[in-house]
Amino acid sequence: MASVTCTAPVNIAVIKYWGKRDTELILPTNDSLSVTLSQDILHSKTSISAQAEFDQDRLWLNGKEEDITKNKRMHNCFRETRALRRAMEEQDGSLPKLSTFGVHVCSENNFPTAAGLASSASGLAALVFALAQLYKLPIDMSDLSRIARQGSGSACRSLFGGFVAWETGKEDDGSDSRAVQIAPDTHWPELEALVCVVSDKKKGTSSTSGMQQTIESSPLMQERLRVVPGRMAAMTQAILDRDFPAFAELTMQDSNQFHSVCLDTYPPIFYLNDTSRGIIQLIHAYNKLHGGYKAAYTFDAGPNAVIYAPKENMKEIIQLIHHYFPAGQDTPRDVYFSDPYQVF
Ligand code: DP6
Repeated sequence: MASVTCTAPVNIAVIKYWGKRDTELILPTNDSLSVTLSQDILHSKTSISAQAEFDQDRLWLNGKEEDITKNKRMHNCFRETRALRRAMEEQDGSLPKLSTFGVHVCSENNFPTAAGLASSASGLAALVFALAQLYKLPIDMSDLSRIARQGSGSACRSLFGGFVAWETGKEDDGSDSRAVQIAPDTHWPELEALVCVVSDKKKGTSSTSGMQQTIESSPLMQERLRVVPGRMAAMTQAILDRDFPAFAELTMQDSNQFHSVCLDTYPPIFYLNDTSRGIIQLIHAYNKLHGGYKAAYTFDAGPNAVIYAPKENMKEIIQLIHHYFPAGQDTPRDVYFSDPYQVF
């Protein structure tokens, strides 16, 4: 029997991935760029065992068994890593035939699943990394990211720390659609992220289905595809220069445009709620008060805010959030405050 346990972090995009040019291979319509958050707090943990006696692959997600045969994407990750292991075993007859064993996978997140907090990214990254460890694959992270991408697009970026780009690539087979590190986490230690859990409910429209609906029906998406390459270049430069004002402006503009194409999708997709919009207004008011960029918000496919800011501003931002969005606020809206926010 062979077993491994791995954890993988969450990443939050500052230039969003939204749309696929190939839904089978998970090839995106545009490049994206994210910041990987500290593993200590938000992560997925995956344990895998391979044993000759296991007659089938089985998966437990947050303690509940899932039917792995119905999960094509996960199946693809198994198939790809097994094929690499099989090739190694064929080359070296002395290796244990792990590729022929069934595997049992146990995976858990320490944060709400499917609430727009990148749970699929960290979950699939942890799975693929654990499989690579189990099979002792001599593979670099960028190559492994091509397999993680087939589990969930954004997962490919969670294989790296720091600042990570996912390059769309041009090839039809996806061979050049992979994640690359722009800069390690040590490059910009003053930059911090604050995760405000506005709701831990499962989102109404999954990213996978939402982005396809956008591709099929949003005329505004063409405009987004036109501007993203320029934004990617400017964002990369802002990160390399540790230029917070440029980073903040691009982050907020890109989040807003992503939610605009969601609204332009027909029928429209609403991920933000009144609290999310309140946080947007608060951050703009805070920046205006200081006459410059002190903080930036971004929202994925859900109402939860991630606020990026230099460390020195974080205390004040947390106080502002607590002041304007008090816990247990008597509200008719469908808003959930967790204790009152999970502040990381
Ligand atoms: C809004 O990676 O969850 O978080 O590839 O279909 O699994 P699939 O989608 P997923 O989409 C993430 C979308 C996003 C933006 C981002 O992380 O870049």
